[in-house]
Amino acid sequence: MDDDCSTTEAFDELKSRSLGVSDVAQIAAGTGLAVYAMWVGILQPGFRRVPLKLQVPYIPASKSQVRNVMTLLKGRKGGIVDLGSGDGRIVLEAHRRGFTPAVGYELNPWLIYLSRFNAWRIGHHRKVSYRREDLWKVDLSECKNITVFLAPSVLSLLQKKLLAELPNDALVIAGRFPFPDWTPYRIEGLGVDRAWAYSIEAQRNCQQLSQLTRNVLNNNLFV
Ligand SMILES: C[S@@+](CC[C@H](N)C(=O)[O-])C[C@H]1O[C@@H](n2cnc3c(N)ncnc32)[C@H](O)[C@@H]1O
Repeated sequence: MDDDCSTTEAFDELKSRSLGVSDVAQIAAGTGLAVYAMWVGILQPGFRRVPLKLQVPYIPASKSQVRNVMTLLKGRKGGIVDLGSGDGRIVLEAHRRGFTPAVGYELNPWLIYLSRFNAWRIGHHRKVSYRREDLWKVDLSECKNITVFLAPSVLSLLQKKLLAELPNDALVIAGRFPFPDWTPYRIEGLGVDRAWAYSIEAQRNCQQLSQLTRNVLNNNLFV
């Protein structure tokens, strides 16, 4: 009985007490530690050798975003590659729509396990593949259909890699963030779910045209 009273009193006191500076500091430190532990243990593995400015966090594509990406892929066939495949949802959906081989490149081992588990759950584990590889080191010269959902800070650099490696008839779909210097031939959806489709041939022609224009201008200026 006494015990009950003292517990209730202690609880009441705790409820009525306002938080002091040290309480706030302890809560902040605890929260910070938990976030740090989650970052190091779950989100960061695999990224140790990737420069900080190229590290992109995991944010899964929304259902509408996946739908918009698939709409832009209509009429295409063959293989598909998702660069930074997260939990594998784009690869899985592309496979369901007939793309084969469907491959995801992902650095985070936990996300690779999760992707394989997701594929296994619906009986597609032998039909899709998730590889633990750094997307910056993957050879893309044979890829015809590529999807990306990466941070705007890395898209400029990725443009260069894609232009240097992809075949002329390749199609690139960017989810949520567009490529900064490219002109899309189609856009699907609105807001954060939007997706952009780019033809590599068109980007190369555009690049050649602007180089030609620069040469002409330079010649005129210096003759
Ligand atoms: C914004 S998420 C997109 C996930 C997925 N593509 C989707 O649409 O749901 C970006 C993913 O790229 C992965 N990633 C970032 N840099 C990478 C790299 N250098 N190589 C492979 N994967 C990378 C991250 O781990 C993260 O899962």
